[in-house]
Amino acid sequence: MAVNKKLKPISGRLQDKIIVITGGAGNIGVVTAQRCLLEGAKVVLIDLNETQLNVAKTTLSAGCKSSIESPQERILAIKADVTDELQMENALKQSVATFGGLDTCFLNAGISYQATPLLDTSVELFDRCMNVNTKSGTLEDLHAEAFIGLKHAGRIMRDSGSGQGSIILASSAAGLIARPGMTAYGCSKQALRSLAMYGAAELGQYGIRVNTVHPCGVNSPMFLDCWPEHKIKEMLAALPLGRLAEADDIAAMVTFLASDDAQFLTGGTFKVDGGQANY
Ligand SMILES: NC(=O)c1ccc[n+]([C@@H]2O[C@H](COP(=O)([O-])OP(=O)(O)OC[C@H]3O[C@@H](n4cnc5c(N)ncnc54)[C@H](O)[C@@H]3O)[C@@H](O)[C@H]2O)c1
Repeated sequence: MAVNKKLKPISGRLQDKIIVITGGAGNIGVVTAQRCLLEGAKVVLIDLNETQLNVAKTTLSAGCKSSIESPQERILAIKADVTDELQMENALKQSVATFGGLDTCFLNAGISYQATPLLDTSVELFDRCMNVNTKSGTLEDLHAEAFIGLKHAGRIMRDSGSGQGSIILASSAAGLIARPGMTAYGCSKQALRSLAMYGAAELGQYGIRVNTVHPCGVNSPMFLDCWPEHKIKEMLAALPLGRLAEADDIAAMVTFLASDDAQFLTGGTFKVDGGQANY
């Protein structure tokens, strides 16, 4: 995990917005937090991994201190398992109690695995992906990480009476196109589209927008550990823009969707994939 050293304060378009990022200690989470901070926001990082959370807070504070005043006061790190409804609800309440509101929730926690053919995919692997990426509990118990986050962030935004809010679900290009070897992951990410469509349809009346973001492979351990080198070369050769995504490409889209520039966008499918999902 590293911050982008070239990134400078941008526009102030997120000035004092309060932005929660789940999976906040991971690769995309940290870089998105950096952009949000540099655009003026206060950020809450929620993650299961306490050690990484501490590293994330320190790295972000150090990385932003020449650009913004007292960055450590604008970052809250909370250890929580986002598949546990009570833990997630409490983490969101703690965010509101600390910073006084909730403007954006980026539901970004997720897991992947080494590419596995459908015919060799175990129920356990399928279940685990759906549990963390889409739901929690057992297959019969349709609670979702994203569902839980959507529900509780949505309630807080509705009850605030602010008439606005942005909820962004981290899906994947694999949630738009079938990528052999990724059945369990792809299904869990495709399901997020549906969740966002329902969220957009029901929460629009409160001014809450719900959208999905679909990155192609990101230059990150999550992606590079999934595929053998020759497969990555094949994927790159088929990518119109000829490179993997960088975490900051996703961060740029998330900050846009968090901003008032995106105030009329909801239920949208936002590809950040160098043209991969060409359908
Ligand atoms: N990296 C890629 O190539 C890629 C491509 C498309 C989509 N995505 C999606 O983007 C998101 C972030 O990916 P990343 O590359 O930053 O991965 P990452 O592994 O660096 O970060 C994921 C974070 O989620 C956290 N997490 C996992 N389960 C959790 C739980 N139950 N509760 C709380 N935190 C939990 C992990 O601790 C980790 O810090 C994921 O949803 C991923 O599926 C990634």
